[in-house]
Amino acid sequence: MARKKIIAGNWKMNKTPSEAVELAKTLIPLVADADVDVVFCVPAIDIVPVVETVQGTNIHVGGENLYFEDKGAYTGEISADMLLDAGAEYVIMGHSERRGYFHETDEDINRKLKKALEKGLKPIVCCGESLAQREQGICFDWIRMQIKIAFQGVSAEDAKKVVIAYEPIWAIGTGKTATADQAEEVCKAIRDVIGEIYDTDTAEAIRIQYGGSMNAGNCRELLAKPDIDGGLIGGASLKPDFGKIVNYDK
Ligand code: PGA
Repeated sequence: MARKKIIAGNWKMNKTPSEAVELAKTLIPLVADADVDVVFCVPAIDIVPVVETVQGTNIHVGGENLYFEDKGAYTGEISADMLLDAGAEYVIMGHSERRGYFHETDEDINRKLKKALEKGLKPIVCCGESLAQREQGICFDWIRMQIKIAFQGVSAEDAKKVVIAYEPIWAIGTGKTATADQAEEVCKAIRDVIGEIYDTDTAEAIRIQYGGSMNAGNCRELLAKPDIDGGLIGGASLKPDFGKIVNYDK
């Protein structure tokens, strides 16, 4: 069965609640005819107003992070139940900015993934290598390790619900996109490692996005690749360009 493409915006720490509502209103008509799954992953404080704004449209809302405990004394953290109650369906985890600035480990991401799946959130699990790792020739080893640790203890049935985002760190926010061939090569390697952990069925079902300076100009070539099932879009998700990306096939 063909995998439905999924294009998700990652708004990062960019919009106040009132600005987020304005952006959502601008984007609603621009994405209304999309054949892909459209997701806005927004700052936690923006989730409720954005969910209200996009009600009745084809837009799904996600968080940008969650904590792996159910509740308790974790000042500043957001639980899966909080995200769900606010109306989020998806949640990003393991973004390289969270790994880098907030010291998240692969083990943390594994706990977050299991918690999201237990609670019924749809996870978007990020992985990606730095420029140094690519130059050292360990890109594939690194990504395989990130995926293997993230999916420890996750059943095949649950793994099929996960979206993986391959985001080379050197391409994020830099304007330097991986070539379509480079992105495809790694997305295929990710599908292969999922096949090794689970089976061909699971590998064929799981959706793998590319992220890193994807924009209206380069999306078509990237999304034409057989193992690239969508995009995780940062900078271009804050602009009307996002509408062009979700309509890349028109
Ligand atoms: P970018 O960000 O599109 O601005 O490179 C992508 C991401 O970090 O998810």
